[in-house]
Amino acid sequence: MSSQEKRLAGEAAIRYVEKGAIIGVGTGSTVAFFIDALADLRDQIQGAVSSSEQSTAQLKKYGIPVLDLNATGPLNIYIDGADECDPQRRLIKGGGAALTREKIIAEASAKFVCIIDSNKRVDVLGTFPLPIEVIPMARSLIGREIVKRGGQPVWRDGVTTDNGNWIIDVHGWQIADPIALEKDLNQLPGVVSVGLFARRPADVVLIGDRLMD
Ligand code: A5P
Repeated sequence: MSSQEKRLAGEAAIRYVEKGAIIGVGTGSTVAFFIDALADLRDQIQGAVSSSEQSTAQLKKYGIPVLDLNATGPLNIYIDGADECDPQRRLIKGGGAALTREKIIAEASAKFVCIIDSNKRVDVLGTFPLPIEVIPMARSLIGREIVKRGGQPVWRDGVTTDNGNWIIDVHGWQIADPIALEKDLNQLPGVVSVGLFARRPADVVLIGDRLMD
């Protein structure tokens, strides 16, 4: 069911792709369905800005040009999945460790279309452990700061991000004020980025092929 909804969402997102556009492309199994569908339109778009080595490989496999965000400038559209989504379209992301590049592309894009299956829809963020990308030498420092804030930090041992950093997953937080928490964590030295997309939420959410209210 969840995989079927992911495929439907990935395919439905194609309706946001305009002729001649450069598409911001996220990461994950839902986005993989989107890239599969995008392959049919490869001759009608200029290319894509990719959020991960994984998505880059899939885009290149289909012959879709992968462009540098510094060269493209702002984008009209960004398509990406999420690990959780609340009613205000605020998200937890980073289950695939690609949160930093995803956040950069989301910020650079006029419209962020988030594609999810219904299991991702929650009332309060935090059941899915919150990923935080950290500079390796700051892992313990940041872990202690998380404990002070009532969270349980777990190092994603063995995972190095595309940027050469590490991931801490924070368990046990029911996130009542995601904007405040995002801001607070962003200020800790050694935090590269926080997998809360609250200050810049999604603009549109597709659950399968249905638009979320
Ligand atoms: C990648 O780092 C994440 O932000 C993904 O967007 C998220 O984990 C969704 O992945 P799936 O589409 O595989 O569920």
